[in-house]
Amino acid sequence: MKSAKPQTYHVKSFGCQMNVYDGERMAELLEAEGMRAAQGGEADLVVLNTCHIREKAAEKVYSDIGRLKREDGSRPMIAVAGCVAQAEGAEIPRRAASVDIVVGPQAYHRLPQLIATASQGKKALDTDMPVQSKFGALPARRRQGPSAFLTVQEGCDKFCTYCVVPYTRGAEVSRSWQAIIEEAKALIGAGAREITLLGQNVNAWTGLDDRGRPCGLDGLIRALDREPGLERIRYTTSHPNDMTAALIEAHRDVGKLMPFLHLPVQSGSDRVLQAMNRSHRTADYLAILERVREARPDIAISGDFIVGFPGESDAEFEETLKIVKRVNYAQAYSFKYSPRPGTPAADMDQQVPAQVMDERLQRLQALLNEQQHAFNRAAMGRRTSVLLERQGRRPGQLIGKSPWLQSVHLETDAMIGDLVEVEIVAAGPNSLSGAEIMRNAA
Ligand code: SAH
Ligand code: SF4
Ligand code: F3S
Repeated sequence: MKSAKPQTYHVKSFGCQMNVYDGERMAELLEAEGMRAAQGGEADLVVLNTCHIREKAAEKVYSDIGRLKREDGSRPMIAVAGCVAQAEGAEIPRRAASVDIVVGPQAYHRLPQLIATASQGKKALDTDMPVQSKFGALPARRRQGPSAFLTVQEGCDKFCTYCVVPYTRGAEVSRSWQAIIEEAKALIGAGAREITLLGQNVNAWTGLDDRGRPCGLDGLIRALDREPGLERIRYTTSHPNDMTAALIEAHRDVGKLMPFLHLPVQSGSDRVLQAMNRSHRTADYLAILERVREARPDIAISGDFIVGFPGESDAEFEETLKIVKRVNYAQAYSFKYSPRPGTPAADMDQQVPAQVMDERLQRLQALLNEQQHAFNRAAMGRRTSVLLERQGRRPGQLIGKSPWLQSVHLETDAMIGDLVEVEIVAAGPNSLSGAEIMRNAA
């Protein structure tokens, strides 16, 4: 079927923040091509920017494709991007014939050519991981909210035995200092007051600073700290192995670096960690957190957990509960192990029965929720800054984030993008309410 070149687009992103970032960059690219944003299936081109991390996430794309059929029987041009595209490639149009374009996470700068091919009625597939990175070929950053993502590092060389990311995103690559600083300045110029530096192993970022000296993520953070107009710096996701002394010191010294650290441990059992090919042990993890908390006593700790990794015994799961109690998380994500095609763990013996995983996940989440609620309650009466990010449900209500990444609701005549001082007056399990104290003049 030949179709006209699309005039409107819609990008829908699933998965991690890096995918959200890629989705924004694809939208900017399509705008630079003269296309306009449209709602869902009404758009001429729909890009499903997919996630392959767990089976449920990966299967979702197929039900989404089915739903794109319009009432009159027509459908938009459909592009599958992201990690499912990389992992399944040509298999996707075989399984869902309505897919026109398949494009991997390192190749989406070539979307314009792929769209041209698809407009001629041909299937277009690009899952290359070109040496010349996509970043150089993408248009400059544009319109942005007060809080922006900036990918500084791509890919992963860690090969945890359960994980698809090293296969879907490729090897660890750091973007250059210059490219990152330039993009940060563009984001700040477009209104960003907070930047979150992104990477699957963001703290493995290395490069040469503006004077040609080797430096790590801490160096980048210190450089951003000097950027006028930027108020807050965050980074995610970190791996325990790359938590350098210099980065920990940055948490002590850098005023704009927010007191929040997402540092996944996955399991509290050293035997399981070894089977996962996590190269840290629980003692290493706890020692890192001790040093981080020494550097920044009010830091909020977040993490990721997998329950039911092949061979995980009841006693080993209890060790996960134990480390959670030791650490006391401000928030965390926890998942049932999902066997992924091509990963070593998928072929391991002793897969844990679904019902056992369900029970373990429930117990773990109950504990984590309790800790999160307690962390929020501890904010009661505290004065803190809030960066206002979006409208709330009620008129006059805005929602922003505390330095500890808690959502704060507030009645105010301030504007989105303002940094306001509030007193926390109510604390729920998932968010806080604040009363404004004074407006930051900056
Ligand atoms: N690079 C990050 C996280 C990447 S994926 C890190 O190493 O911390 C985000 C989270 O998804 C992981 O931390 C892990 O908890 C979870 N995850 C990854 N693969 C999974 C799988 N096969 N089944 C269940 N959870 C998984
Ligand atoms: Fe996946 Fe492990 Fe790499 Fe994180 S460090 S992306 S969990 S392989
Ligand atoms: Fe998912 Fe790919 Fe991110 S698998 S978690 S979208 S890197």
